Amino acid sequence: MDAQVSKPLIPPAPKVHARDLTDLGAAWAMMRNMVGAWSESGFDTLMIPYNFLGQPGLVVSDPAGVRQVLGSHAARYRRPFQISRILRPIVGDGLLLTEGEIWRRQRKALAPAFTPKAVETLLPHFMAAGQTLAEGLAGQDRVNLSETFHRATLDAVLRALFSRAASGEGAQLGKIARDYLQGQANVNLFDLLARAPGDFGFAERPRRTVGARWMTAVTALIDARRADAPQSQGRDLLDSLLAARDEDGRPLPDLEIRDQCGTMLAAGFETTSRLLFWATYLLALDSATQARVRAEILTFPPDRIRSLEDLSAWPLTRSVLLETLRLYPPAPMMSREVIAEDEIQGCKVSPGHVITISPWLIHRHRKLWDQPTAFLPERFMGHPSPWGMDAFIPFGAGPRVCIGASFAMAESQILLGSLLSRFEVNMADDRPVIPVARISLGPDREPDFRLTPIRRT
Ligand code: HEM
Repeated sequence: MDAQVSKPLIPPAPKVHARDLTDLGAAWAMMRNMVGAWSESGFDTLMIPYNFLGQPGLVVSDPAGVRQVLGSHAARYRRPFQISRILRPIVGDGLLLTEGEIWRRQRKALAPAFTPKAVETLLPHFMAAGQTLAEGLAGQDRVNLSETFHRATLDAVLRALFSRAASGEGAQLGKIARDYLQGQANVNLFDLLARAPGDFGFAERPRRTVGARWMTAVTALIDARRADAPQSQGRDLLDSLLAARDEDGRPLPDLEIRDQCGTMLAAGFETTSRLLFWATYLLALDSATQARVRAEILTFPPDRIRSLEDLSAWPLTRSVLLETLRLYPPAPMMSREVIAEDEIQGCKVSPGHVITISPWLIHRHRKLWDQPTAFLPERFMGHPSPWGMDAFIPFGAGPRVCIGASFAMAESQILLGSLLSRFEVNMADDRPVIPVARISLGPDREPDFRLTPIRRT
């Protein structure tokens, strides 16, 4: 008998527009869902010039063009001020938004805290967060995992930053972050119409109000942690920030420490929680792959993880996370403002133009991937370095590539391993869950999952 070849899972996605959207149609669609605003041509064409509400721009999906904008010609571009409008209240002058010499100095000072070796010292924090996640789910058979992962990744990043769990001030911070990321962080019409940093300043007031509460909560956590253990013991990221020295051997000023902590919290917990949500959703739809992932995890259970090397015992788990990052990139859109003339794959761009690079489009592009919409974790199995793959940029590329990529991968493997080693996960209903991109790529609704405890012999 012929071996049965099962069809790969094609997970839900927003409907693709039948034709290119007009300016106002596109503005409306962008505000509702940044990944739902594309027409077919986005998935077939590598370079798309556009003019959006009078703003000239270029969508670059060509891998050589992406490498040029984010990498070799990075100095000719900067983040558009619209990104600052949205994020500055919660990240201040931290690494995400600074430019030029200040950014270069900050990146150099922070890089040692994010090397794989440094991330390895944070593994006990991720394991404690995984343990808390699994214990919190015990006895529940129907769970909103989107909320659960928000709590778990906040817990993981708070432990990694301050050696503290997400209770007390930490839980308060989580509530502010959720309010911000699901409310004020959404792109509004004033952001799309603004042509200079101060335009429509009145529309930024609500962001500043919540941002001030956020920064107060971050400062309280730093103060509490410093009062607890003023001596640097190298046990968490705050220790690394306090130990960091700039090129002249000076420690980072307190305000910068606060902004870097705000940045790591804001950039680190929502993105990773989205990755875990979508990975679990895919595995709930593909129970055969879920069973294989669980079998792999149970041969080397999470409580035995001591080093990053140990995580190589879970190659399929890692491939599932990579395939999830491809299909549901938590940061689905990057943009750059042109500050010096350039030519990208034959298209001339000049100061004022905006470049859009969308991992969502690139990862689902028909010219760049075989079976682009199918969930096929095997495509990453045995791949020595997925980060070198031309059309795979979930963490960006070039000098401003995500500094937290190793952190996020280790944390996600441990949290997913902690969940799947204890529970079988299924959807509680059959309705599709559609990705919606505002600041990160979340679900259009928060579905319940059914959990069945695994009996371990
Ligand atoms: C799955 C999880 C994550 C994803 C998908 C992700 C994605 C990204 C992307 C795409 C960028 C580049 C943006 C651009 O070039 O415009 C970025 C930058 C950044 N990420 Fe992440 N990130 C994740 C987790 C984290 C974590 C855990 C941290 C910190 C603990 C972090 C901190 C940062 C910072 C500080 C930057 C700015 C780097 C710079 O400009 O030099 N991220 N991230």
